[in-house]
Amino acid sequence: MTCAIVGFVLGMLCLFAGHKPDFMEDYNIISLNTSTLGHNLIPTPTSSGSSPTSTSSGIGSLFSSLAGEAENITSSIANALSGFENDIADKLAGELGIKQWYSLHLMDMCEGTYTPNATVSGAKANASRCTNQTAMYHFDLTQELNRQLQAGSLHLNLSDINWPDKIQEGINELNTALDATFVLYAIAIAASGLSIITALIAVLVNGSRLISFGNWGLASISFLAYLISSIMITVGQIKGANIINEYGNDIGVYAYKGIKYLTITWVAAGVMALSSLFWIVEFCIGRKQARRVYTEKGRSRKY
Ligand SMILES: *[C@@H]1O[C@H](CO)[C@@H](O)[C@H](O)[C@H]1NC(C)=O
Ligand SMILES: *[C@@H]1O[C@H](CO)[C@@H](O)[C@H](O)[C@H]1NC(C)=O
Ligand SMILES: *[C@@H]1O[C@H](CO)[C@@H](O)[C@H](O)[C@H]1NC(C)=O
Ligand SMILES: *[C@@H]1O[C@H](CO)[C@@H](O)[C@H](O)[C@H]1NC(C)=O
Ligand SMILES: *[C@@H]1O[C@H](CO)[C@@H](O)[C@H](O)[C@H]1NC(C)=O
Ligand SMILES: *[C@@H]1O[C@H](CO)[C@@H](O)[C@H](O)[C@H]1NC(C)=O
Repeated sequence: MTCAIVGFVLGMLCLFAGHKPDFMEDYNIISLNTSTLGHNLIPTPTSSGSSPTSTSSGIGSLFSSLAGEAENITSSIANALSGFENDIADKLAGELGIKQWYSLHLMDMCEGTYTPNATVSGAKANASRCTNQTAMYHFDLTQELNRQLQAGSLHLNLSDINWPDKIQEGINELNTALDATFVLYAIAIAASGLSIITALIAVLVNGSRLISFGNWGLASISFLAYLISSIMITVGQIKGANIINEYGNDIGVYAYKGIKYLTITWVAAGVMALSSLFWIVEFCIGRKQARRVYTEKGRSRKY
């Protein structure tokens, strides 16, 4: 019963973590640090004025391929940020009109800034807004960023900052996996919730093998559902973060896997495995006891 309660509560947390600003924000599935998004548009302070191609590495070649309009954008960003070159990470997002971080939860998305600032190590995520919760939420980062960029003071859009389509493709894969895990969590939570009630019945009706068997069935269903969703979350996080980092790091987007979320989903699977194991043992002991009672009865009839 304890296992079922723990499994049930953890399952609910998997669903509802991050459903409003600053409610278990750490327990996200994946989070994106966009505090330096667009840093590639800013010419290095040493490259005197008109020649942004002198920025280091591949960014330079990427930059030179931009249209003339982008040069105007470059200069407007550079103007807007003149004097901020040393703490780009903390000012850039604000200048562009976007948030410093975005995080994906199972049923919504949250966004906000880092406190005290983006560069300090161990900065805390301060959520300013979360989207409304919906079942089978689909995270559309591209649309969200584009909307905020256009509303920002520089009125950019994503193509201005060389946003690669691959990032949204990576997120879309994760979205599909999360649809399935949503259904699995619902099954797991329902089964563990029922399991609390049937465990209570088992305590009252001591030693019933049928109830032990039923409990084992419920615990196993819940365990399997948690197990599959935990595996899907684990794989989805790794694939999603890899794709986003591969295509996003150049333009200043960093993805982090939500380790705390991973922990609670695997612990939920673990306690339901324990519960399932317990009911198997209980079922076997119950059978032995039943046999002993039977033989004792038989013996007493003889004498
Ligand atoms: C920059 O924008 C101005 C208008 O705002 C335009 O006249 C000029 O041609 C643009 N420069 C380039 C290099 O496109
Ligand atoms: C960030 O915060 C830390 C601690 O408050 C401070 O030492 C540091 O100067 C800040 N950095 C910027 C760029 O504001
Ligand atoms: C966000 O990314 C920037 C650029 O890599 C980094 O300097 C900063 O420390 C990161 N902030 C957090 C809170 O992870
Ligand atoms: C969080 O951000 C809000 C503005 O969005 C600000 O008013 C508040 O002080 C911040 N909280 C902390 C702890 O810095
Ligand atoms: C979110 O929910 C609130 C109230 O529950 C509603 O007023 C608002 O329109 C909703 N927003 C969206 C985008 O659905
Ligand atoms: C971004 O802006 C450019 C020029 O202003 C335009 O050609 C392009 O279609 C825009 N892209 C989006 C996705 O709005």
